[in-house]
Amino acid sequence: MFLFKDIPTLQSFLQIYRQNGRSIGFIPTMGALHQGHLSLIRACKEQGHLAVCSIFINPTQFNQESDFNAYPRHTPADIELLLQAGCDVLFHPEANTMYPEGLQVNDYDFGPVTQTLEGMHRPGHFNGVITIVKRLFEVVQPSHAYFGQKDFQQCAVIAEMIRRFGFSVELHRQPIVREKSGLAMSSRNSRLNSEQKQQALEIIQTLTWVKAYIYKIPLDQLCEEAMYRLGKNLKPEYFVIADLQTLEPKSRLAAKEDAVILAAAWCGDVRLIDNLLVSG
Ligand code: PAJ
Repeated sequence: MFLFKDIPTLQSFLQIYRQNGRSIGFIPTMGALHQGHLSLIRACKEQGHLAVCSIFINPTQFNQESDFNAYPRHTPADIELLLQAGCDVLFHPEANTMYPEGLQVNDYDFGPVTQTLEGMHRPGHFNGVITIVKRLFEVVQPSHAYFGQKDFQQCAVIAEMIRRFGFSVELHRQPIVREKSGLAMSSRNSRLNSEQKQQALEIIQTLTWVKAYIYKIPLDQLCEEAMYRLGKNLKPEYFVIADLQTLEPKSRLAAKEDAVILAAAWCGDVRLIDNLLVSG
């Protein structure tokens, strides 16, 4: 695996691969890697692309400085995992490489997809995500990009960003990798104690329960009951059944209509998100 910290050397390296007809696959991350991240790298490799992973804890997408400071930083362990997954290139820049003008963020309003759910509960979050992913796409110039369904709304936002800015990047949304218990893997899970890990399972259990009744019980009743169940041990922020592209909440589903069920809840001082796809 090749490691780059600055843009010009990364770009001249990638240019040689491009000239030799290799396609570039890109997996942006914030490190503290787990099997969820590695599944993206493996998918990229299986599809025959050069796998370029970035690790950059993007300060502008955090709502609280405390969350940014508490974000786990495990670079040596990450490098070990990337080697095991067969990653070809790691791009690991410093903040002033990605933000040479200081931490400036543009305002991006893509309509409901950036305004609802995470957009509403984490003001400015998607501005930070779009700013950094746009910059990373411009630097790496991939033809394929791999994102996890774990951050379903982020995938929808990136799809819209690709469309609006005309990037010629094919977006691959990869399934959520879970612990054996069902808990969606997340870098933030390392901040949960064993009792909290047990309580956090209520998120996937409630999503699964709602999925089982989605065509049988009115959606508002389902979401209300779900918020009640989650509220027993967690602090739920939202529980919504939404449109796959716009993420707008749905009040009813036609027979066999596709949708996504999304939840966000606080477990102690850790904010967790999860979702399940529904397809008739
Ligand atoms: P991060 O949280 O590190 O996630 C990097 C990628 O891994 C994202 O596409 C995310 O959806 C995916 N991922 C995380 N947990 C997963 C799981 N359990 N199963 C499958 N995929 C999973 O998302 C970000 O970083 C940042 O917002 C970023 C896009 C890098 C921009 O800073």
